[in-house]
Amino acid sequence: MKELKILGIVVVFTLILYWGVEPFAHSQMHKHVEGDDFKYADLPALKVKGNAENGKALAAACVGCHSIKSQGMAAPMDAVTSAQTYGVNPPDLSDMGALLDEKFFAHFLLDPAKVTKSKHFAMPPSAGSEQDAADIVAYFKSIAPKEVSPKEAYEAACGRCHANRYAKWTQIGEVPKTKSNIKTGVDLEALEFKKKVGTYENKLADYMGKLPPDLSIIIRARSEKFLETFVEDPQSQLPGTAMPRVGLTKEAYEKVKAYLEETGDPSKPKREALGPWVIGYFILFAFLAFLWKKSIWKGHH
Ligand code: HEC
Ligand code: HEC
Repeated sequence: MKELKILGIVVVFTLILYWGVEPFAHSQMHKHVEGDDFKYADLPALKVKGNAENGKALAAACVGCHSIKSQGMAAPMDAVTSAQTYGVNPPDLSDMGALLDEKFFAHFLLDPAKVTKSKHFAMPPSAGSEQDAADIVAYFKSIAPKEVSPKEAYEAACGRCHANRYAKWTQIGEVPKTKSNIKTGVDLEALEFKKKVGTYENKLADYMGKLPPDLSIIIRARSEKFLETFVEDPQSQLPGTAMPRVGLTKEAYEKVKAYLEETGDPSKPKREALGPWVIGYFILFAFLAFLWKKSIWKGHH
């Protein structure tokens, strides 16, 4: 009887510790942030409709800094030279019409620093009026592909700032497949590429105030809720951070998340496939134990 009481007390205290202290500590360490489901409610609805034809002419100015590869337009400078000029490489714009929220995109063109909530954003205002902005957005929507892969979404939205070691992604592109020299054993091409990444990262760190972290295992370090509300509005979780609000749609965010899951936790599908087998094993084991018990007790009744 006494042992039972002690056991009861231990169980009760363990439960109090778990339900009371753990979630309490959690809520103290992580500010609870209500997301707005990528609706960007702080930005007013557009009052005009865009015209893609006009937008195409206006978008010619964007190619002064950006590439639009799907339209055969190359960037005026390579990634490293761009970083030496702006602090960061302006992303390729081919998929932006599919990735960015329409309303966000238009307001972004009118005032990039304000809309991204960054203290400094190297892109100057690039639309003269709300009508021009809407036209440019309509153009980028008209050239956007129907399907954007998780990898493409990540590269366009995050890849200029965040490397991903597991995916062999650097901020200036994928690590090239190179061969070392047979005689010297040295891979000069790979060294050259490393040097370029180093130069780029130095410029990026100067521009951002710190080097944006590698995101290969972020999916394991941070909760889903944190990631979602952080990408939606970095200031909500890290007031004063230099990371811009990127302006993704909910679907585009899901793509980016899928990519981070693929690269950061590649064994997850395997683990999930194993689950039913483990449960099946336990059921079988319990059944055998039951039969065994029955056979042992058979003669005793
Ligand atoms: C003077 C160079 C320059 C011009 C011109 C320019 N941009 Fe940019 N743009 C940049 C730079 C630099 C960045 C990245 C800045 C950063 O990440 O801090 C950028 C970022 C962007 C982004 C990413 C925004 C996000 O949400 O992350 C989009 C979209 C974009 N530009 C669209 C355009 C369009 C459309 C035009 C033409 C109407 C244009 N830009 C003209 C330099 C430029
Ligand atoms: C213009 C550069 C830039 C872009 C684009 C960018 N980030 Fe960041 N990001 C940063 C910087 C700088 C930090 C470091 C923030 C800090 O500590 O203040 C950061 C930090 C983070 C963190 C770590 C936050 C934490 O404290 O754990 C995550 C997660 C993240 N970014 C995800 C993303 C994702 C996902 C995208 C694309 C949708 C993205 N970022 C796009 C610059 C960028």
